[in-house]
Amino acid sequence: MKNKNKVVVITGDSKGIGRYLTEYYLKKGFVVAGCSRLESGLNTKSRSYSHFRLDVSQEDQVVKTVRSIFHRFKGIDILINCAGIASLNHALLTPAETVDRIFAVNFKGTFLMSRECSKFMKINRCGRIVNISSVAVPLKIEGEAIYAASKSAVATFSEIFAKEVAPFNITCNCVGPTPIETDLIKNVPVEKIDRIINSLSLKRMGKFIDVANAIDFFVKDESGYVTGQTIYLGGV
Ligand SMILES: NC(=O)c1ccc[n+]([C@@H]2O[C@H](COP(=O)([O-])OP(=O)(O)OC[C@H]3O[C@@H](n4cnc5c(N)ncnc54)[C@H](OP(=O)(O)O)[C@@H]3O)[C@@H](O)[C@H]2O)c1
Repeated sequence: MKNKNKVVVITGDSKGIGRYLTEYYLKKGFVVAGCSRLESGLNTKSRSYSHFRLDVSQEDQVVKTVRSIFHRFKGIDILINCAGIASLNHALLTPAETVDRIFAVNFKGTFLMSRECSKFMKINRCGRIVNISSVAVPLKIEGEAIYAASKSAVATFSEIFAKEVAPFNITCNCVGPTPIETDLIKNVPVEKIDRIINSLSLKRMGKFIDVANAIDFFVKDESGYVTGQTIYLGGV
């Protein structure tokens, strides 16, 4: 019953990997505070689940929402920054506003949520943060320059932030998933996905459980001595 009443904040809970993680941690007995712009797509009557409508790229919304989560649940034990967007295009054809948007959600959103949740984790002198990067970083995939750069920023930020929050007993780590069937990649041509899969050591699409398993390692009580690490899945 170690997980009972532990509070996990999951961004991007309305669909895809974030929704899977929300169901996964609810089943494990956690209290889940999910955050995304739209209503939650989750069909649950669980009293351990609350959804907060939030754009993670908006500082005022993040500050207000994280404060209300803390006051409602009297603590924040774990943060999983899963909210993310992608736009795949040749760099020469990418408008500057696309770059702003991708960095605002993927990088700034991760930074703002990590900063605000850490302020409350610090009060209890304990916390776990897991950020989501991508194998697009080590694979250096053409057509993903901006997305991969934003995920590279997430990984570098996590590694340095880990050092800055270590004195408060907060760990910060990163998971880099391989392609997983969600809306995020629904417009990526099959041949391109096949090429990515073929460049992995383990030649298959990723599954939600692959991501959950890596996150589980970082958030469990026994992993308090593991911080500033990025696990890329699939054997890149
Ligand atoms: N699927 C893959 O192949 C893959 C591979 C590597 C890494 N990843 C990473 O894994 C994470 C989840 O991706 P996914 O595949 O599950 O994507 P998805 O199915 O498109 O879901 C993205 C989630 O992020 C939320 N979101 C987007 N913009 C937001 C914002 N400004 N504020 C708050 N929430 C926002 C969306 O909810 P709303 O629209 O309601 O806001 C949604 O819940 C992302 O960081 C992605 O980069 C995915």
